Amino acid sequence: GLADHVQRNLLGWYDRNFRALPWRTPPGEKAASNASNAYAIWVSEIMLQQTQVGTVVDYFARWMQRFPTVIALAGASLDEVNGVWAGLGYYRRSKMLHEGAQYVTDVHQGQIPTTYEQLLKIPGIGPYTAAAIASIAFNQCNAAVDGNVIRVISRLLCVGHVAANSTQGAKLFQQLATEMMKGLESRPGDYNQALMDLGATICTPRAPKCSACPLQAQCRAYKEAQSAPEVDVSLI
Ligand code: ADE
Repeated sequence: GLADHVQRNLLGWYDRNFRALPWRTPPGEKAASNASNAYAIWVSEIMLQQTQVGTVVDYFARWMQRFPTVIALAGASLDEVNGVWAGLGYYRRSKMLHEGAQYVTDVHQGQIPTTYEQLLKIPGIGPYTAAAIASIAFNQCNAAVDGNVIRVISRLLCVGHVAANSTQGAKLFQQLATEMMKGLESRPGDYNQALMDLGATICTPRAPKCSACPLQAQCRAYKEAQSAPEVDVSLI
C-alpha cells in the first residue's frame, strides 16, 4: 500500500541524503548505541524547536561539554544553565530542560525513561518531543509531528485544506502520521528524521523541489497539480 511505498522510498532517500549531525547515529545503526544517547537527543530536540540546525550545532557541543549527563544538568544552578543557553533565546526552553533533568534525576535516578507515556510526564516534554526521543533513542514506533511533517503529509495526502492549528486538525495530522508509520518494521527514528529532513530541504513551504522528491510517485498534491500547492504557513 501507500504507507509501504512511502516508508521504503523515504528511508532509501535518507540513507543517501541524511544530514550528519552531532546527536545523530548514522542511518540504520542499531538503537542500542543510541539508548545512552537519549539525553543528547532530548537536548537537541529542545534546541531545535525555535533555532536553526546550523546555530544549534555549536550550542549543542558547548552544552554537552558543560552538562554531559542528566545528573550534571540537574545539579547545576539555573544561572549556569542560562549562561550556556545565552544567545539561543526563549529561555523558557532552558528552564524546562533544567526542570526536566531534575525530574528524571528524582523520579528515575537519572535514567531517561524509554516509553512515550513516561517521557510525556517529564516537565517540558510534550507529544512531539516524547515521540522524537522514543523513536530516535529507543526505537519505538511513535510519530513525531512538527510543522515540517505536517506540511509533507498535507501534500502527500492532499489535505492542505485542513487547518493544523485547530484541535481537530492537529488530531487528524497525528492520526495520519501514525497511519503512515504503520507496519514500519525497523528504524522509526530514521523514518521520523527523514520526514523532518524532507520537509526542511525538499518539501519546503515555497517552491518545493518536487523533481528531487523520493515521494513524488506517491504524492497526491503532485499528481493533482503536477507541482505541490503552496501551503498557507499561517496554518502551521
Ligand atoms: N528538527 C527537529 N528535530 C530534528 C531532527 N531530529 N532532525 C532534523 N530536524 C529536526
